Amino acid sequence: MADQDAGSGEDKRPTGIPALRWEEPPEGPVLVLLDQTRLPAEEVELVCTDPAALVEAIRSLAVRGAPLLGVAGAYGVALAAVRGFEVEEAAAALAGARPTAVNLAVGVRRAQAAHREALARTGDPRQAAAAALSAARALHREDAEASGRMAAHGLALLDELLPAGGHRVLTHCNTGSLVSGGEGTAFAVALAAHRAGRLRRLWVDETRPLLQGARLTAYEAARNDMAYTLLTDNAAGSLFAAGEVDAVLIGADRIAADGSVANKVGSYPLAVLARYHHVPFIVVAPVTTVDPDTPDGASIEVEQRPGHEVTEVTAPQVPVAGAGGGIPVAPLGTQAYNPAFDVTPPELVTAIVTEEGVASPVTAEALAALCARSRQV
Ligand code: MRU
Repeated sequence: MADQDAGSGEDKRPTGIPALRWEEPPEGPVLVLLDQTRLPAEEVELVCTDPAALVEAIRSLAVRGAPLLGVAGAYGVALAAVRGFEVEEAAAALAGARPTAVNLAVGVRRAQAAHREALARTGDPRQAAAAALSAARALHREDAEASGRMAAHGLALLDELLPAGGHRVLTHCNTGSLVSGGEGTAFAVALAAHRAGRLRRLWVDETRPLLQGARLTAYEAARNDMAYTLLTDNAAGSLFAAGEVDAVLIGADRIAADGSVANKVGSYPLAVLARYHHVPFIVVAPVTTVDPDTPDGASIEVEQRPGHEVTEVTAPQVPVAGAGGGIPVAPLGTQAYNPAFDVTPPELVTAIVTEEGVASPVTAEALAALCARSRQV
């Protein structure tokens, strides 16, 4: 078992490069991404000069995680506009690049609406492009601010639920600064607990098949000097049975109006384990992840990913061989079931923490009230 305690403390940034940034070199504006498929082996930038490159980066998970997908989608619309691409076409391609994380479509729509409004008002494509960019920048800023507020609400909730302190928190997938303009969602809460001296251990699920936990969350935890331990996803059950988990903290890709939570596949089994073992199961997400147009869990479209992600090892440091570019770990031609997400029903969720406050118990009414609060600001 990889067990990493407090490290050197030299560099507190989760990576040397922000997950995403807008730049305006003399050759023309670009969206620069930290290529997350290459982490933790190397920090490599991916420079998008057109919306098609960004769509590919989204599909390949070079840029990923619900809040950051929203920000990327908004910048993608701005990129299309400033570089003279057909904006409506680009917006449709960006919004459809991945179906489950609602933030992507929300971010795209926000920049698209700003673009349309400015174009209708001024008739000037340059002013419309500037409006789209300013909408993307505003969303980026708001996302960073929301992180801080979610962390504060989440830590207060943890302390309330676990008054003894010394929290041992299990998390799944990756929810830190690699998915956000700020410090993330669930990870930001764990980080706040760590900074307050109240995180005893962060249990990190490796998150098969693309290893966002092992490659990205462990990376962020190490960079922040957190006491963390990596486990295979299927070791979680014995960890609960041993009484080693005080709370589960995860993010969300879409929360239906009834409180059903779509998140990285493997989240639902953790919710079932948590209920059986009487452990709080806490979801942390900005209100933009709550989708009032999706009534319930059954209405959430779950992205199905290619089978080779399961039948081959595709970690970045592994040389290429199989059909998907990785080393085969199953007989050639093996069919794979590879949903990217699963859906946890609201009755298994102890609380949903947003930047506007906490819904607990998780009900449609409580969620609607948090969303209404955000619209008033
Ligand atoms: O397929 P991914 O890596 O984009 O999935 C990401 C997740 O499932 C995260 O847990 C979710 O987006 C919440 S991030 C705050």
